[in-house]
Amino acid sequence: MKKFIIDGGVRLHGEVKVSGSKNSCLPIMAATLLAPGKHLIHGVPKLGDIHTMMQILRVTGASVDWYKGAEESRLKDHTLIIDTSEVNNSEIPYEIVSKMRASFLVTGALLGRLGSAHVARPGGCAIGHRPIDEHLYGFKMLGAQLEEKHGYIHAKGNSLVGTEIHLNEQSVTATENILLASVTARGKTHIINGAKEPHIIELINFLNSIGTEIELENDIIMINGRSSLDQLHPSEYEISADYIEAGTLMIAAVITNGDITLIRARWEDLTALITKLQEIGATLEKTNNGIRVKKNNVSKPCSIKTSPYPGFPTDLQPQLTSLLSIANGTSVVTETMFEQRFNHIPELVRMGAQIEVDGRSAVINGVQSLSGAQVMASDIRGGAALVLAGLSAKGKTEISRIYHIERGYEGLEVKLRGLGANIKKV
Ligand code: EPZ
Repeated sequence: MKKFIIDGGVRLHGEVKVSGSKNSCLPIMAATLLAPGKHLIHGVPKLGDIHTMMQILRVTGASVDWYKGAEESRLKDHTLIIDTSEVNNSEIPYEIVSKMRASFLVTGALLGRLGSAHVARPGGCAIGHRPIDEHLYGFKMLGAQLEEKHGYIHAKGNSLVGTEIHLNEQSVTATENILLASVTARGKTHIINGAKEPHIIELINFLNSIGTEIELENDIIMINGRSSLDQLHPSEYEISADYIEAGTLMIAAVITNGDITLIRARWEDLTALITKLQEIGATLEKTNNGIRVKKNNVSKPCSIKTSPYPGFPTDLQPQLTSLLSIANGTSVVTETMFEQRFNHIPELVRMGAQIEVDGRSAVINGVQSLSGAQVMASDIRGGAALVLAGLSAKGKTEISRIYHIERGYEGLEVKLRGLGANIKKV
């Protein structure tokens, strides 16, 4: 099993290019199933989750490969060619879905393309039990027949009809799944109280690039259904920067009292984090193609409460918790989105953090500095939080089970070494 070994205490400095957004890529790869033909997707990060989604598309009959052609700048080795002309299988087996919950996103696209989908019900994961009731509710509202047996969701619907769908939870993948299924539903569909994360906007942009008519107007996603698939066509699309990776690297700069510039990071995706980092004492500024972050003083404490976009993102809560562990005072972190997203805390405590968890809240009494230790990652963002703690801790930190981290970050140790960190993968 691979590990990260970090010698902490180095102040990060320099420039780093942010990779493409994982959580934009996954629904967009599913969306290519709707438009038969050859799609070119640029800026795709090379991650475990992306490889799983490539496997799923192949199971449906599509062909998927990394572009190996001329090294023109745009087509540098992060371009996927996805040919969905021959999609004919709508059964996605458990052994694939159990690797990644987001596999369930192909349900909506398969319903739209083939009129049926047989997808294993996704399990929970380290951060919570992750229900899919909102997804199923949306499909039912569009007129799909749903049946569940032997752990599979069987959805049928050759002639879905657009309607008004009001979500209870602003669920990201439920919004995405319903969007995908509604593209070929007859008439208009309105999704009310849908999620509005940057990756939802990106999916809407991609869907409009293949010929759908979707707009977001005062918080309602409005879809004009296409009457037939031949109104849709393949497209070429460039994925935007991953704002969760950018946020993670921004916190790396702050926790090491460094000064870094993130190329491609978009200020408007990260305003909730930026506000908090300024409160903590960092200086942030927009550059012509990214964001510069620097800090050179003791971190002040602050409190956060996670909520759907544009609130503070749950996917940056573990990373900020690491930073607040060495703030000069007491902070409170409240995690409203998932019931189990504090797995990183016992590991931070092993590094000397003083944190008390009480239900959905964690009270952090900042300490002067953390000390390196052997710790274990148990999910993508919790693992990233341990890397950040290791960068700032005195001495050596050894992080095991880093496959969790590599599901969501492409070459994190390479990026950090490029900024001066003393980190290696063994
Ligand atoms: C997406 O997960 C992201 N994954 C997660 O990122 C992210 O943490 C989460 O959104 C919140 O932003 C992808 O985009 C692939 P949810 P998702 O459905 O859509 C409740 C990462 O690190 N809910 O928005 O599965 C649920 O219990 C991953 O990249 C229902 O009640 O999350 C939770 O409390 C981790 N019923 C809340 O909504 C449903 O049918 C948010 O879950 C669905 C969700």
